[in-house]
Amino acid sequence: MPTSLTDQVVVITGAGRGIGLATAGRFAAAGAIVVIGDLDDDVAAKAALEVGGRTVGHVVDVADRASYARFITFAEQQGPIDVLVNNAGIMPLSPLVDEDDAATDRIIDVNLRGVITGTKLVAPGMIARRRGHIINVASAVGRIAVANGATYSASKYAVMGFSEAMESELAPDGVRVSCILPTVVDTELAAGVSAAKGMRAVRPDEVAAAIIGVAHKPRFETWVPAWSKGLFYSMNALPRRVRNTAGHAIGADDALRKIDVDARQDYERRASS
Ligand SMILES: NC(=O)c1ccc[n+]([C@@H]2O[C@H](COP(=O)([O-])OP(=O)(O)OC[C@H]3O[C@@H](n4cnc5c(N)ncnc54)[C@H](O)[C@@H]3O)[C@@H](O)[C@H]2O)c1
Repeated sequence: MPTSLTDQVVVITGAGRGIGLATAGRFAAAGAIVVIGDLDDDVAAKAALEVGGRTVGHVVDVADRASYARFITFAEQQGPIDVLVNNAGIMPLSPLVDEDDAATDRIIDVNLRGVITGTKLVAPGMIARRRGHIINVASAVGRIAVANGATYSASKYAVMGFSEAMESELAPDGVRVSCILPTVVDTELAAGVSAAKGMRAVRPDEVAAAIIGVAHKPRFETWVPAWSKGLFYSMNALPRRVRNTAGHAIGADDALRKIDVDARQDYERRASS
């Protein structure tokens, strides 16, 4: 039986814009009580107003444990947390040799440490209630690492590894862990990034729909679009040399290298602040 989302308390980080905002809209429409977190109080409050229903917003920096803990305490005023969507993430792009240490730390702290911290904060309550679902928004680059985004790729690979361990650790307690692996999504984070040949950037709402599907029926690994999972696993079965040639032919290896730098300027500034 699919899980009903009516009256469920759903916490979504980084839901002030992009995939998180679209996901908040879908959960609210399904009758959930949605708690939006984002870096900026105004952004979170505006998003909550836009989503409507019983949605509330609060500031959170997932890279800062104390801030994340305050956010979870705020969310719990709505009731015990049923679903946590670890969605907040950043993608500054550059060759590794040009990436300063502050940027490296920030990518790891937001994309990986944030997921670990969020899990630590909500898992005890979920274990005690013997129910709950943690949905981590990873990325296709959590399975296919690409040039010009080495630290980003590493952070998403790590999220996949962490999630796999947590799924087996928490399943006996009735708590589920799922991952979402979108390809290129049309949000500010992917400004100036083109999809591989034969593919198109997916809309944030398509990712949101996949997340809702997983919330109804937990499944460990969901790619968006769904068919990209089959493409990845069949290519992965090929010898590395053949796989590299095929990846190069569709431009997948250059997806984060052949970018429109001007189109990314605003995003890169936001992601580094
Ligand atoms: N857009 C893509 O192509 C794509 C593809 C695969 C995976 N993803 C992943 O999807 C997730 C959402 O990305 P998006 O494309 O919607 O990006 P986005 O930049 O449009 O939105 C991300 C939101 O997260 C917030 N945020 C950033 N750092 C934060 C922090 N420390 N604490 C709290 N909030 C923070 C931002 O303020 C922003 O509102 C990310 O984890 C990203 O890695 C995106």
